[in-house]
Amino acid sequence: MKIVLRILLYLVLFAVVALIGFACFIQVRGIPKYEVDKIDYPQVQSDSDLVANGQKIASVQCIVCHRGTDGKLSGRLLQELPPEFGEIHSANITQSKEHGIGKWTDDQIAYLLRTGVKPDGQYLPVYMPKFPHMSEYDLKSVISFLHSDKAYVQPSEIAKVPSKPSFLTKFLCLVAFKKIPYPSAPIAHPDTTKPKEFGHYLVTGRYDCYPCHSADFKTLNMQFPEQTPGYCGGGNKMITLDGKERFTANLTMDEETGLGSWSLDDFTNAMLHSKNKQGKMLREPMLPFNGMTDTEVKSIWAYLQTVPKIKNVVDRKWEQE
Ligand code: HEC
Ligand code: HEC
Repeated sequence: MKIVLRILLYLVLFAVVALIGFACFIQVRGIPKYEVDKIDYPQVQSDSDLVANGQKIASVQCIVCHRGTDGKLSGRLLQELPPEFGEIHSANITQSKEHGIGKWTDDQIAYLLRTGVKPDGQYLPVYMPKFPHMSEYDLKSVISFLHSDKAYVQPSEIAKVPSKPSFLTKFLCLVAFKKIPYPSAPIAHPDTTKPKEFGHYLVTGRYDCYPCHSADFKTLNMQFPEQTPGYCGGGNKMITLDGKERFTANLTMDEETGLGSWSLDDFTNAMLHSKNKQGKMLREPMLPFNGMTDTEVKSIWAYLQTVPKIKNVVDRKWEQE
């Protein structure tokens, strides 16, 4: 009997030591670095159409997170991120050569936006989105915007505040969040006359509705969006800038808990005028998509009809506030 107890004790001790060792390894290893592949990304030749399209995309995809106290994309503390990710600051992405990305080449910007890996190999976890499905045209547009004469991107000399990712973020970088491979062929722009195809692209490639509107950022699958648990079924917990909890809406066509009882008009009203079916204003962090075209709204609606329904009651206690 004694021997059995002793063996058990040793086993428990061994497990504890192994666990501590593993925890230390993750803590010290931090956010991983990856090898940077050489890519052949043609230098972007800007024109005013590209800049305008880029600004439209950036207004919902970059400016929200990167706009700093000086109104430029100089970076800020992302208070709205769930605190379990750590203390995360977005970066200065203005044209400043010292504090921004003024020295980055177009290959380097494209590589980061697609894969999540910076020129020095440093990987940026889930709080900096990746755009593996964005078409070349849209990606070029975003890069043109970053190079443009718009006030947002003019050099700002505010230095980046280093982020302090939590243990959980580091752990997730070991098991879940990984570099996304750079696409092996250029990504064609979708056929904008085919509503379902174009809508799918808008939800997963250009406007990224699904990361917020699926179950949880921690289980996000940026490489294969539809494999994200609870895809478009809502319920993801978000924190508002003044610290309140808010859960995202169920965008699937479930009649009771999703948009199944909505009409195209209701949806258009939500997209262009930020109002829900009851006429109440949608609250942040739902983004104002009021720059969308009619075709974009209709296409997203057409695509959402094809997404498998999920029954998920979302807590909307803030509507009583
Ligand atoms: C959800 C918030 C969020 C959005 C949206 C976002 N970013 Fe970021 N971005 C971050 C954070 C956070 C970091 C810095 C992470 C770190 O270093 O800890 C970052 C880092 C970067 C960097 C690296 C800069 C450096 O010097 O390290 C670039 C470049 C960048 N973002 C560009 C963009 C562009 C372009 C867009 C739009 C297409 C965009 N980001 C959208 C949060 C965001
Ligand atoms: C940054 C996170 C975020 C992104 C990105 C986002 N949403 Fe939302 N969305 C929310 C939140 C949070 C709510 C709940 C707001 C409320 O009810 O006041 C919401 C609410 C909605 C609603 C209202 C549904 C209802 O039942 O009232 C619709 C429709 C919607 N979003 C569609 C979209 C579409 C389509 C996209 C992409 C084009 C998108 N959202 C992108 C966070 C987001």
